[in-house]
Order: sequence, then C-alpha cells, then structure tokens
Amino acid sequence: MKTIIEPFKIKSVEPLRFISRKEREVILKKAGYNLFGIRAEDVLIDLLTDSGTTAMSARQWGGMIEGDEAYAGSRSFYQLEKKVNDLTGFRHIIPTHQGRAAEKILFNILGGEGKIIPNNTHFDTTRANIELTGAEAVDLILPEAMVPSLKANFKGNMDLEALEALLEKFGPKRIPLVMLTVTNNSNAGQPVSMENIRQTAELAKSYAIPFFLDACRFAENAYFIKLREPGYENKAVEQIAREMFSYADGCTMSGKKDGLVNMGGFLAVNDGELAQKAHSILVVTEGFPTYGGMAGHDLQAFAIGLDEVLEEDYLKYRIRSIAYLGEHLTELGVPIFQPPGGHAIYIDAASFLPHIPAHEYPGQALACELYLNGGIRSCEIGSVMFGKSDPQSGIFEPATLEMVRLAIPRRVYTKSHIDYVIECVEGVFKTREKIRGMRIAYEPPVLRHFTATFESL
Ligand SMILES: Cc1ncc(COP(=O)(O)O)c(C=O)c1O
Repeated sequence: MKTIIEPFKIKSVEPLRFISRKEREVILKKAGYNLFGIRAEDVLIDLLTDSGTTAMSARQWGGMIEGDEAYAGSRSFYQLEKKVNDLTGFRHIIPTHQGRAAEKILFNILGGEGKIIPNNTHFDTTRANIELTGAEAVDLILPEAMVPSLKANFKGNMDLEALEALLEKFGPKRIPLVMLTVTNNSNAGQPVSMENIRQTAELAKSYAIPFFLDACRFAENAYFIKLREPGYENKAVEQIAREMFSYADGCTMSGKKDGLVNMGGFLAVNDGELAQKAHSILVVTEGFPTYGGMAGHDLQAFAIGLDEVLEEDYLKYRIRSIAYLGEHLTELGVPIFQPPGGHAIYIDAASFLPHIPAHEYPGQALACELYLNGGIRSCEIGSVMFGKSDPQSGIFEPATLEMVRLAIPRRVYTKSHIDYVIECVEGVFKTREKIRGMRIAYEPPVLRHFTATFESL
C-alpha cells in the first residue's frame, strides 16, 4: 500500500474549541500579540512546540500506574537508567525535570567566565544556560545550511573547518566541551550525518576535549541517517542511535521530544568525577539522584517512551507526516526551509513577507496572522528569539534567518488536521501584502520571546 497511515488508533480524545476570528482578535490583543500569552483552549491547532506535547501510549499510561514513587532507590529510576545505559552506553544517568535543567547542571560545572562552547547551533535554553555562567556560546553551522531554499541531506551538520580553527585557537583550556545538537532544532530541525558526528567527535578527541550530544531528537536524527546516508539503509534505527551515542562522552536530553513524555530529561556522562559534581548540584536544585526532577510515574513513562520512539513504523509515519505538510506548502508556492526537517516545518518569513524588514519582525507578524486566520499557534524563530535590540541606542542586530516554526506534536494530530493547517497557511499567503510589521512594546532581559509584548505598526 502506498498510503502511510498513523500507526495507532485513538482511545481517548480531547475536544477542540472553535472560536471566531473576531474573538481571536480580542484574545491576541490582550496577549500583547505574543502567542505564548494565549490560553491553550483559545487555540485550535497548537503547533507552538513539539516539546512535552506528545500523546502518550496506553502502555505508557499503564506504566504510570506501576511507577514507583519511593524517594530513594525507585524501581522506575532503575528501569530508566537501564534503558538509557543500554541505548547510549553512558555510565552515569542524572535525571532532571527537563532538558534545560540538565544543561544548567552541565554548564555550571564546565562553563564560566572565559570559556567557549561550540555547537552546530545552540538551542535558546542551551545558549542562555551557557551565557548565564559568563561563558560564550558559539554556533558553527555550514554556510550553505543558512540558505532556506537549498536542498541537501544533512543541513544540520557542524562546520568542521570552523570547529578546527576554533579548537586550534583556544584549545582545551578555554573550550571545556564540544556539543552537537541532533537534529538541529534552531536550524529547522535538519539532521546531522553519522560521518559528521564521528568527525566532530574525532576532532574534539584530538584536542582532548569532551564531546557531548544534545540528544533531544536522537531517534528522528537516526531515522534520517537510515533514509539518507549510504551504508545505513539496512541497519535498525536502534543500532544507528547506539552508534551515534558511541562517539560521545555524554549527552543532555529533553525527554519531552524523543522520550515521548510530557515531562522529563537527563544528563548522562561517562566521567565519574563530572557525575559526582552533577549529583551534588542535582540534590540541591532538582532532587535525590534516583528521581532528580521527576516523579516515579514520569520515570516509568520515559523508559517506555524511549522504547516506542525507536519503532520504525512510528518513525516512518512521523518523518513522512512532516514531509507531507512541507510538500503541500511548497506546491502552493509558500517558501519553507528545505528540505522538511524532523519535527517541524519552518516557513521562511523573510521571503513570505518581503515588504517587512527584519527590525519589524516578519516572523512575529506572520505567526499572529496564522492565529487570526485559522486559530493556529506557531512559533517565531527569528529576530524576536535570536536578534538583539536596544531601544535607547536604536541598535538592532537581526537573527540570521526569519522563520516561523510549525512544530508537530507527536501522535496528536491526524492528516485532516494537517490539511486544515495547509488551507490556513494558503489563505494567509494569498493576502500576505496586507500584513504589517510589529514593534516590541516590552521585553525582559533574557529569553525575550516568551514574555515580550508587541504592537502592530
Ligand atoms: C535542541 C533542544 N535542546 C534543548 C531543549 C530544552 O529542553 P526542555 O524544553 O526540556 O528544557 C530543547 C527544547 O525545545 C531543544 O529543542
């Protein structure tokens, strides 16, 4: 059969609430034109993020009842620990409530004034956690990966030449670790090839610098390797994932993505001394080492999620459903970041709205319009998230790309929901000349995109 179907049937449903455009206008204005400020029940299709929005399976819900809530030595922790050990090979598993808590612990130990941490592209919380310690976060993405219309297999790859130059210049005294984010969320969810993972690891090793993966979407990345990298087509995704981890000394993980859970994360390392330091921070900020930031039932569901995410029927459906949305938007002439990534479609807002300059935040304007037109909540990934502006001096530094991310929650929406999204984007695309830019009315000192407010120009 040619038709790829959702590899599950629906057992429990949650109604959607339909409201009018007029009602949405009032709601959006009240939220200061920031979609993070809107109540979820006022959203029809929520594509704000794929993080923590997964629908859990019957097996996971069943597992939650079996979750062991013991403060110390919880059986559920040992199940998760075994699963992560088996998959990653890392010796020490430090459970946290989500990915950024793992980042905070890691960079509190390895970061600090004068330190430099390279990555293909740091996610916003990773960058913020590094910068909060006084260290510098450096992105080393390939120049061609910055061209949204260019199609290539592994646009998430690390720029190895740039990495080598950085390592040569600063060495292990200034560079405490090299990171690689798989898939590269901030660069449109593009995958990283096994060859690039291996070469990045070898380069780091040749300078005696530890190599870490930001492994949030390791399974989606592994599946892309199977689809696109010669020599991997006949390997099981689990085997590919194991190989990815085998090159690293540790990883940070947000279980809210490829852990298929609503909450959870971990830091995993081989280095016993590093693990000891991490545990000391963990008990103060998260919890005892056998639960960290999670309840017993969360640990249990996470262990099961790591099993389910490697099922190839699931990954085939997952990657294909993102491509389906991307292909239909492309057919309509909507400029998107090519090729479709692993968890989301990124609309190229700069090309979609060429009449709105970067300092008038085209991505934010487009995200608001998608909400007004069809109740779709998306996320600006452009100059609001990554740019910098100073209203006093008038200095404005734009982001490299102006994108709007349509992130697809795992196992939540059906094909007809996605068809509705396509129709909504098409409607906005047809009347795009009427959309106006925005200005920031209020911004907080860090991670401004979460709570900033805007005014329409
Ligand atoms: C690549 C990447 N790293 C880290 C994080 C942070 O994870 P969490 O949201 O669980 O704190 C995210 C979340 O979206 C992410 O996409």
